[in-house]
Amino acid sequence: MRLIIEPDYELLSRWAARYVAARIRKANPREGKPFVLGLPTGSSPVGMYRNLVELYKQGQVSFRHVVTFNMDEYVGLPQDHPESYHSFMWKNLFSHIDIPGGNVHILNGNAADLEKECYEYEAAMKAAGGIDLFLGGIGPDGHIAFNEPASSLTSRTRVKTLTTDTIIANSRFFGNDVNKVPKTALTVGVGTVMDAREVLILVNGHNKARALQQAVEGAVSQMWTITALQMHPRGIIVADEAACAELKVGTYNYFKDIEKDNLSPDALLK
Ligand code: GLP
Repeated sequence: MRLIIEPDYELLSRWAARYVAARIRKANPREGKPFVLGLPTGSSPVGMYRNLVELYKQGQVSFRHVVTFNMDEYVGLPQDHPESYHSFMWKNLFSHIDIPGGNVHILNGNAADLEKECYEYEAAMKAAGGIDLFLGGIGPDGHIAFNEPASSLTSRTRVKTLTTDTIIANSRFFGNDVNKVPKTALTVGVGTVMDAREVLILVNGHNKARALQQAVEGAVSQMWTITALQMHPRGIIVADEAACAELKVGTYNYFKDIEKDNLSPDALLK
């Protein structure tokens, strides 16, 4: 696993966006050979999406042959609700880039048969050739997508009940009213994310410090589902300094040292 440590959220977002754009460009996606991206919501990726929109406007990257699959969606929230993940994605990314609407996939939390919806979502990912790069954030309890503690590390897309911790954490998007937060969600599984050819996780802020410590130094455990990333052959975490507060000094220094000569994403884009 790589751990890239950036000074702050702005630079982390810049790094992640340039990395994603460089990956898309390198794959040279075209008709019949799309680049398949897995995408997260939440506050962590907002800066990366802003940077990706800028790169698109500068002509540095095109999404015309990019196919996307979002990680998760609340159950029962109308699609046009301002806090649905559908609304989030169109507001923060899709409305500002050249991705064809038909290339976008987001789980339907209002489907009549939720199990069928999840099953078909997995099938659609497979039909698209699998995910080339899965982007994600993590919850303060180390969950990835909505794979709450004790989710199977081989889980697939399914319905999950949200923990009280997650409901409280996400109530900031619902006027701080826990009763307005949906209690269940559809989410890709840990196994679904791990099937991607590459996984890039964004971790920022002091409230993620314990989760980052577990992700990097902890043992692989269902109680911190992000730790599954340790088993992935191409896993990258990009973190800001604030999120590194719980890492051992030796761990921090090790990653700073080993990453110091790697090409910056700015250089990758040249
Ligand atoms: C939600 C999402 C996760 C996200 C997490 C952290 O639970 N399902 O995908 O990583 O929140 O959100 P934030 O980035 O706002 O801290």
